[in-house]
Amino acid sequence: MNELTQVTQAQPVPKHLPDAQIVTQVKHWTDRLFSFRVTRPQSLRFRSGEFVMIGLLGDNGKPLLRAYSIASPNWDEELEFYSIKVPDGPLTSKLQHIMPDDEIILRPKPVGTLVHDALLPGKRVWFLATGTGIAPFASLMRDPETYEKFDQVIMMHTCREKAELEYGRSLVEGLRDDPLIGDMVAGKLLYYPTTTREKSARMGRITDNLTSGKVFADLGLPPMDAAQDRAMVCGSMAFNLDVKAVLEGFGLREGANSDPREYVVEKAFVGDGI
Ligand code: FAD
Ligand code: A2P
Repeated sequence: MNELTQVTQAQPVPKHLPDAQIVTQVKHWTDRLFSFRVTRPQSLRFRSGEFVMIGLLGDNGKPLLRAYSIASPNWDEELEFYSIKVPDGPLTSKLQHIMPDDEIILRPKPVGTLVHDALLPGKRVWFLATGTGIAPFASLMRDPETYEKFDQVIMMHTCREKAELEYGRSLVEGLRDDPLIGDMVAGKLLYYPTTTREKSARMGRITDNLTSGKVFADLGLPPMDAAQDRAMVCGSMAFNLDVKAVLEGFGLREGANSDPREYVVEKAFVGDGI
């Protein structure tokens, strides 16, 4: 059996909640960001890049659920999530306190547009994310299918400050040494993290670095073109709208599961009033 398809070992049995899974690891990256891993229902199949509904029981005893991108790849025996901590957020004000052995609710119905099926074949794929929008790409960057389908994979991730990039940075660094996928990633994955408010080695909004041509010059790539380049986008509504305009400017067209084209977009969260 291929190591990537290894069957899950015995998992802790969920105790109380319907659709409950057990928290196995929690890591806090900043006072606003954390990641955690939970057991995976044996029946759950998903495509890397999809999201599910997860949550906790609310004070009224009813499930309080929110959409979350699965950050782990589809071959992983556990599920990983990368989360914001919204100080007064109904879910994350509580979720940020979870510890190993706690339970969360997970509705096993994965959906989403950031999937390979929604893109036409191409030479390069661009993953464009701000903030927690890197979560679906944390899954796709660890999926061998990504490297089978594309010669080059460019991960652009932009946050205000350096500390907010750490989850993605450590994931990318770990990937290069990964015994399962390290060889596939070598030379193919180009990582382009930038900050916009704190000074760092690389700065600037993704939109600006694309329109100015800076990212192409820095990475030694030709400008995007619809024949060769594909893109997946995940950030705030404002970011998504602005990136769409930039991609359309390069001639790329938006696709969907039922109508694969050159790029696809998903909201990283639903903002106030949107
Ligand atoms: P909410 O009442 O849900 O949100 C309160 C406010 O906080 C929002 O109006 C918005 O202004 C802000 N906010 C919410 N989420 C974020 C965020 N991720 N980044 C910045 N500001 C935010 N969130 C994640 O942390 N990780 C994910 O992988 C993730 N995937 C998502 C996938 C989809 C398709 C969608 C629609 C949303 C996703 N979200 C993700 C957002 C998530 O569903 C919740 O909004 C978030 O967990 C906060 O929940 P809450 O109940 O605490 O606050
Ligand atoms: P900036 O600092 O210039 O606003 P936020 O924390 O507000 O969600 O933003 C996360 C990152 O996304 C920040 O680096 C921010 O840059 C960038 N960003 C926000 N809105 C846009 C947009 N419309 N186009 C491009 N980048 C954006």
